[in-house]
Amino acid sequence: MRGFREQIPIKTRREVERMREAGRHVAEVLLVLREAVRPGVTTGELDALAAREISRRGVQSSFKGYDPQGLPKYPAVLCVSVNDEIVHGIPGSRELEEGDIVSLDFGVSAEGYHGDSAVTVPVGDIDKDRKRLLDVTRQSLDEAILQMIPGNRLSDLGHRVQQCVEGSGFTVVREFAGHGIGRALHENPWIPNYGKPGRGPRLLPGMVFAIEPMVTAGSAEVLVLDDEWTAVTVDGSMAAHFEHTILITEQEPEVLTRVPGSH
Ligand code: MF3
Ligand code: CO
Repeated sequence: MRGFREQIPIKTRREVERMREAGRHVAEVLLVLREAVRPGVTTGELDALAAREISRRGVQSSFKGYDPQGLPKYPAVLCVSVNDEIVHGIPGSRELEEGDIVSLDFGVSAEGYHGDSAVTVPVGDIDKDRKRLLDVTRQSLDEAILQMIPGNRLSDLGHRVQQCVEGSGFTVVREFAGHGIGRALHENPWIPNYGKPGRGPRLLPGMVFAIEPMVTAGSAEVLVLDDEWTAVTVDGSMAAHFEHTILITEQEPEVLTRVPGSH
């Protein structure tokens, strides 16, 4: 069981440099992908575009071939999760339609260090409820990031996400969580998007976390499809997902996966 008790790595200056580099590539590619989202585009075409950006930039995919504990290797460089798909959607022949909401989750490593980020975007015009779901989920991430200052405790992050999400009438998904990130895509600690404040280790400069609230407009119940990756809501409700990779510093948190124009 991953928990609070295990060591949280502190990055050296050299490691932080590499993570800045990885994070910048992730942010730039997500901007390119967002531009390509429109009705009629297939999720597989978005993956192909992401793969071209990876090779053009001389970085490595963090996702392709990833195989946590007995799961089949993840087959793509991008996760594309549409509407009631929460996370880890495998790109393929599905065409995006006007009114859909689509989560693009992308990660690369540069000289062995990873960056990981996700954004949920509208396809053309979307209805008011979906727009609010996106706004609240992004806001919950921003709120958690504001908590990433030395002296705060780890559980303050998830607590703030939960407050923001539930205060707006939405639901936090509990099966998946944020995570430490660095030489591995997933490092200690495990960072749930809910919980009581004031628990767990104190945050220190040099810690780098990927914070990723997943939020639904209905129940929190999750089903994983037969492909063993795609997680959907059991009740068919809409889901949104936003993620950034963030460095804790002596001052403000530094969002490594943000460039001008990013979420
Ligand atoms: N942001 C997602 C996560 O941390 C991306 C993982 S995709 C995978 O779970 F293929 F690498 F699993
Ligand atoms: Co992640």
